[in-house]
Amino acid sequence: MSKNDTKQGMSTRLTNYGDEGFSLFLRKAFIKGMGYTDDALSRPVIGIANTYSGYNACHGNVDALVESVKRGVMLAGGLPIDFPTISLHESFSHPTSMYLRNLMALDTEEMIRAQPMDAVVLIGGCDKTVPAQLMAAASAGTPAIQLVTGPMLSGSHRGTRVGACTDCRRYWAAYRGQEIDDQEIAEVNDKLVPTVGTCSVMGTASTMACLAEALGMMLPGSATAPAVYADRRRIAEHTGAEAVRIAKEKIAPADIMTPAAFENALRVLLALGGSTNALIHLTAIAGRLGIDIDLQSFDRMSRETPVLVDLKPSGEHYMEHLHQAGGLAAVLHEIKPLLDLDVVTINGKTLGENLDATPRILNQQVVRPRDNPIYGQGGIAVLEGNLAPRGAIIKQSAASPALMDHTGRAVVFSCMEDLAKRIDDPDLDVNAEDILVLQNIGPKGAPGMPEAGYIPIPKKLAAQGVKDMVRISDGRMSGTAAGTIVLHVSPEAADQGPLALVRTGDRIRLDVGSRRLELLLDEDELARRRQSLTPVTPPQQGGGYRRLFLEQILQAEEGCDFRYCRLEPTIKVPRRG
Ligand code: FES
Ligand code: MG
Repeated sequence: MSKNDTKQGMSTRLTNYGDEGFSLFLRKAFIKGMGYTDDALSRPVIGIANTYSGYNACHGNVDALVESVKRGVMLAGGLPIDFPTISLHESFSHPTSMYLRNLMALDTEEMIRAQPMDAVVLIGGCDKTVPAQLMAAASAGTPAIQLVTGPMLSGSHRGTRVGACTDCRRYWAAYRGQEIDDQEIAEVNDKLVPTVGTCSVMGTASTMACLAEALGMMLPGSATAPAVYADRRRIAEHTGAEAVRIAKEKIAPADIMTPAAFENALRVLLALGGSTNALIHLTAIAGRLGIDIDLQSFDRMSRETPVLVDLKPSGEHYMEHLHQAGGLAAVLHEIKPLLDLDVVTINGKTLGENLDATPRILNQQVVRPRDNPIYGQGGIAVLEGNLAPRGAIIKQSAASPALMDHTGRAVVFSCMEDLAKRIDDPDLDVNAEDILVLQNIGPKGAPGMPEAGYIPIPKKLAAQGVKDMVRISDGRMSGTAAGTIVLHVSPEAADQGPLALVRTGDRIRLDVGSRRLELLLDEDELARRRQSLTPVTPPQQGGGYRRLFLEQILQAEEGCDFRYCRLEPTIKVPRRG
């Protein structure tokens, strides 16, 4: 490319400093402070969103990945320039990472827009980062390719394999039930996160990595390679090279993330037994492209898509085993008849062509054949009823079969503080057949829809050996958690949803088979209670982001995106079902 070529490189999106020539002259003068030559600056510029943070062990390998991406970009004739964005780690995102996801999406989108780049490589990993980056890419419209940091390896505690963070919960429950002592719980704490990388189970991060690949936004075979494997570095190098091609061919995210691509991703979510959070994230990403994910059609899809991947929390294995079993391609092969194979993916080939280039199942223990699934239906079922007029969900593959059709007495907690105060009270009037209800942990209520839907079993019941109870809330649950847990009840209690009407002693019926969630009160009583519902005073508003969040946040079935970021839907998916 000649140094006067203005089609790509530094000349994209000129900031107006007077005439066009002067703008380019000025920008080149400044970037040359970094030591670049005119030759370098005349090449396609590939931005690299660098999400390294000392707080984020899930992104602990980002520096190495940036180096590998840069090598790939340069080998393909481009100029790589990395730039920082917000980095979110689940554990260090107060008040919740969902609260901050949209902030990361705004930051990433605007940095892609603001700086000259012909394509961008988005390096994400921890739960909310990949959704935020794909939301940003969808809105910015610049050619984009996703790269994930990859899962951490599993660890070993006294000879037992352990991994973050399904086993975090399992060991903590054992500690609460006084099955293990102070010394052992401290020992486990050292073993749960043995390397950098994302959680080693099919939690939200692993689910979103697989869905980014299923959507076609990430190279085939790139979802599962562990963070510390050499494979991960090679994937990064290939990603850099591919970024140069999509820059030259001007492949926009909307060219890849089509309605058919979202349908494929929804199928994959079900077959993975993936995180419930991913449904919210896919809805948010799709919403930015005018695509509406319809929960009822998704549920029909769920009835015919079996769970095939035997990973924790629904199954036994860890992400490194899925990688060794062929990665996502092994799953895609098994559900091939349910997929649209003609969608074009980020490497310029169709999904069908990519699959033809990979072997079929390698380990039937980890990825089951369709005729021998882990669970006969999809991992997530959509519930409806007078308690959730706009829907609720349950991760049925991780629930207890005995509780799937259950009627019980509600024991209600009005908020997280109330729960914390009373759940372990020895005098709490609760037994194993009761249904625990937690209100006001929805998108507006907490705010930020915390993963507090995994309500702990009251200590006195845990000590008696109770492992699971029906639990219902308007919040979320970590993708690494399991139990008979109804989530995302919409509208939320803080938005005057019927969940706000439930009182201790009411009876609730959950019937997953018929997809019902009912508060067993007659309409008159519900109407009476609705009248006495004191209007919810919005949580105290500060300035800045908090205010924006509270004014703009949508409910779960609309992806918890900001109202003004979601386009008017022009198409509903899944279209068949
Ligand atoms: Fe980052 Fe689990 S905490 S992926
Ligand atoms: Mg999580």
